[in-house]
Amino acid sequence: MSLLFFKRVLANPIRVGYLIPSSGFLTRKTARRIDFSKPRVVIELGPGEGCHTRQIVRRMSPESQLVLIELDDHFAEHLEKQFVHDERVTVVHSDALHLAETLTQMGISNPDYIVSGIPFTIMARELREKLLANISLAMGPDSVFITYQFSLQISEHELFDLSRSDLCLLNVPPLMVMELRKSAMARRG
Ligand SMILES: C[S@@+](CC[C@H](N)C(=O)[O-])C[C@H]1O[C@@H](n2cnc3c(N)ncnc32)[C@H](O)[C@@H]1O
Repeated sequence: MSLLFFKRVLANPIRVGYLIPSSGFLTRKTARRIDFSKPRVVIELGPGEGCHTRQIVRRMSPESQLVLIELDDHFAEHLEKQFVHDERVTVVHSDALHLAETLTQMGISNPDYIVSGIPFTIMARELREKLLANISLAMGPDSVFITYQFSLQISEHELFDLSRSDLCLLNVPPLMVMELRKSAMARRG
């Protein structure tokens, strides 16, 4: 297990959420959801020490772009060092609460994919609602939001429609991988 991950869990258990990074089974299952047959703009929220990021980067086409948004100082620094030589990857040390504004500043609208490791299901309701509202705001009609969580709770949210879900048992804890789109209600604003 990554020592960095363990230290950051101890420093901020609610924000980091799980005791160990996602397994190879989960990271491959998640990355396979992204279609790289053409250039894509992918946003990853809460990449942590980068286990999903490495799977995504391995599959990315040369013209694709990956933006990592990480709130934790230590993880953000670790990601910057890890991907410094990959021009397709940008690390943004910021809170996903400002996602829509961050993407606007970067000139990104309608990202193809938003992949999130933020543990929505175990955080305070008010914070979860703010994060989900901002994710929905940042999505265009074709954006796909992929997230891995304890339960399907988010799929019932009025801002999103569930297109697909899979259980990944080979992870600690077992998690649901969901693929969501912006709901008709959210598109109307
Ligand atoms: C459960 S860990 C997932 C880490 C990694 N993606 C994995 O699967 O092992 C949650 C991550 O989300 C980050 N995080 C939590 N809240 C955040 C926020 N509001 N904005 C950006 N990152 C956040 C944490 O710092 C941590 O890196």
